[in-house]
Amino acid sequence: MDASGLRERLARCGQAHLLRFWDELGEAERGELLADLRDCRFAEIARCFRQAVRGSAALRSQQKVDEHMEPVPKEVQGSVTRDGAQLPAWEAEGLLQISQSKVAVLLLAGGQGTRLGVTFPKGMYNVGLLSQKSLFQIQAERILKLQQMASEQFGCQCTIPWYIMTSGRTMDSTKEFFLKNNYFGLQKENIILFQQGMLPAMTFDGKAILEGKSKIAMAPDGNGGLYHALGNQKIVEDMEDRGIAYVHVYCVDNILVKVADPTFIGFCVKQQADCGAKVVEKMHPTEAVGVVCKVNGLYQVVEYSEITLVTAQKRNADGRLMFNAGNICNHFFTLHFLKDVVNIHEPKLQHHIAQKKIPYINEQGQQIKPDKPNGIKMEKFVFDIFQFSKKFVIFEVLREDEFSPLKNADSQGGKDTPTTARHALLSLHHRWVLNAGGHFVDENGTRIPAIPSSEPGMSEAVTAVINDNLKELTDLPVKCEISALVSYAGEGLEKYVARREFHTPLIIDENGIQELIKNGL
Ligand code: UD1
Repeated sequence: MDASGLRERLARCGQAHLLRFWDELGEAERGELLADLRDCRFAEIARCFRQAVRGSAALRSQQKVDEHMEPVPKEVQGSVTRDGAQLPAWEAEGLLQISQSKVAVLLLAGGQGTRLGVTFPKGMYNVGLLSQKSLFQIQAERILKLQQMASEQFGCQCTIPWYIMTSGRTMDSTKEFFLKNNYFGLQKENIILFQQGMLPAMTFDGKAILEGKSKIAMAPDGNGGLYHALGNQKIVEDMEDRGIAYVHVYCVDNILVKVADPTFIGFCVKQQADCGAKVVEKMHPTEAVGVVCKVNGLYQVVEYSEITLVTAQKRNADGRLMFNAGNICNHFFTLHFLKDVVNIHEPKLQHHIAQKKIPYINEQGQQIKPDKPNGIKMEKFVFDIFQFSKKFVIFEVLREDEFSPLKNADSQGGKDTPTTARHALLSLHHRWVLNAGGHFVDENGTRIPAIPSSEPGMSEAVTAVINDNLKELTDLPVKCEISALVSYAGEGLEKYVARREFHTPLIIDENGIQELIKNGL
């Protein structure tokens, strides 16, 4: 194969080094490299690179965005705790919209799961629930249940189409997983997979990085790559054809995610918002969540990597963090707004840059794993469109009910691991049973207290240490898992559990109640 034309084209864009090993490559490897090169529009990439670098320098010189940040005003906030009286009306509105098949859900599943350290899509992850269900299955069953609830309540059949954004790295395995699992009971034609773009990782002076002799270090273009993909893969048209009016966009790794949450949707619809974000109260200044706020008068999320500690630590008179609207990557958009974003605003979105340690092949052809950042990845962020909203709202929910993300491996210990995700779901379902009038008993038939007490006479400090160790070493005293096919958010459980006592572990699913100990499991 004659590479001279290609060499010239790449040289014009300052990327001739990508063919450094061309003469050593076999036919198949050349094909692999050409496929990567086909995906790279280098003139455009160079423009994005210059813009992103300029943007991040501007950010640094501005003393970050901090000086221009203001909290979200009260008027645009709804809350599950402060607005209790209105929740039933919002939920009813959301279910009505769902019953008319006007609501779609869109899953952002193009990430690489680098921190979790898996080679397969995160949605396929099994955190070790009693049922061994994957994140994808849990989400699918929540969709099925909501369709059923809305259909029953309004006496009509309805569909919640599920759009799933994957990337070059996750598309095939995601497709196979759904096929193998028979789409988890959903209809195949209502699960629409589409693919976001990829970009090469770059050195600090704008050269694409070679990961192997025939492989460019490519990474997905960030979850904000959504908007380009929605346009170029005609997803917006598909939504229009189906009569969708509202879209709930969410990220794959939150085991508690209320997919198509009728209360959140109903709240946004009633406020006539075109764009909304669900938030939880940020716990402490260094928690790795972005915060929703206003910058120079426009709504945006300031990401945890972009805020300074001084600002993150600021507190209100009541002691709460000043910037406490923690983003949980759960967004509401009207289709009308999404269309404007895709058709008008998308090209204005800038890439954020993150410095990374990117494995590469050096001039001598040796594989190098750098121990300090040697380049950047460029990503657009899904929330960068908040600035274009004409009516923006936020909806605050309880962390223990709705947010437990899976980011890190158990081996890293600490936060946001398979263990913490599993515990969050089992604890929530334990509380659902207690709230519906059920109880758990130990092997002697003694009721297990809802809130474990410490030994009398033990000092607070000792109790705290024991509790910390317990969290690390043992599992939960009560393990209870309720299938979403039985209950979406804790409703309808009285008929199963009221005034009854159960042994743990307990599963309640479409087959009824199973006490696994009694069954000898
Ligand atoms: C994200 C949010 C952060 C929030 C946190 C809560 C963004 C940019 N940041 O951070 O504000 O506090 O979740 O958990 O949304 N994804 C793609 N394509 C990509 C990259 C990511 O689809 O190119 C998807 C991932 O599969 C995941 C979601 O986007 O579902 C969030 O990505 P992740 O990298 O986990 O974001 P965080 O840094 O944790």
